[in-house]
Amino acid sequence: MAIIIDGKTIGLQIREEVQQRAAALKVQGVTPCLAVVLAGEDPASLSYVTAKEKALAEAGMESRDIRLPAATTEAELLSLIAALNSDTAVHGILIQLPLPKHINEDRVITAMDPAKDVDGFHPVSVGNMVLGRPGFLPCTPHGVLVLLRKLRIPLSGAHAVVIGRSNIVGKPLANLLARRDVNATVTVCHTGTKDLARHTLQADIVIAAAGSPGLIKAEMIQPGVVVIDVGVNRVPDLTKAKGYRLCGDVDFESVKEKAGFITPVPGGVGPMTIAMLLQNVMQAAEVQYE
Ligand code: GUN
Repeated sequence: MAIIIDGKTIGLQIREEVQQRAAALKVQGVTPCLAVVLAGEDPASLSYVTAKEKALAEAGMESRDIRLPAATTEAELLSLIAALNSDTAVHGILIQLPLPKHINEDRVITAMDPAKDVDGFHPVSVGNMVLGRPGFLPCTPHGVLVLLRKLRIPLSGAHAVVIGRSNIVGKPLANLLARRDVNATVTVCHTGTKDLARHTLQADIVIAAAGSPGLIKAEMIQPGVVVIDVGVNRVPDLTKAKGYRLCGDVDFESVKEKAGFITPVPGGVGPMTIAMLLQNVMQAAEVQYE
């Protein structure tokens, strides 16, 4: 039976540290502020931004809540971003993704001032990350790395198999794990991978970020490995009040019997994403204050 990784408690510790830094900056007359932009009514996105805003408030930070109709044009969004870029009271900008289909995400992300890109999605942030230069790290990959480090999971020389190649998780995570100071050997699997189990069976650490409920099954891993589940899938469940339940990319019930460590969904990676976001907003506010 695996040790269940408690991302909620580890995330809360980090949030308390951020709260203290926020209080110290407040003494100087500056309250860290994140502009949170949500366009449209995707229910999952709405629940994510609500959770982020609640966490900001609990850490003594401000959020500027900007809700736009799904019909918002790209030009309107770009002019909003220009205004937020030059607003000195706003230290960070978060554009919740996905955006409505008629809006070009690349153009919107690139319009942000990289100094306020607390999601780490701007090409300048991505370039800095790949080059190992200082800058904002994307929240979910950074959260996974911090989780592994806090648990003292050996990373140097370990074989990490990342499943998924999204810009938000798979790509940056593979990059961070292969950094010299982390020193893992990384395999990236994706929808074009032929025999997924052939790769996952070689792994010391399996990180599932495919968006495919229950993809990773017990027979696909070796006993004792570390399993990190980044998937957040809503599967219909009429026994639940909301009509769905959250389910990761890992078949938790079978895999927990065989793995050494496993993250639950919810309560594993998700709270770390929020903690890392607060850290980035704090960093943005401190740098802009200096
Ligand atoms: N959509 C899914 N995950 C994220 C995230 O971490 N940040 C933003 N802005 N949008 C997302």
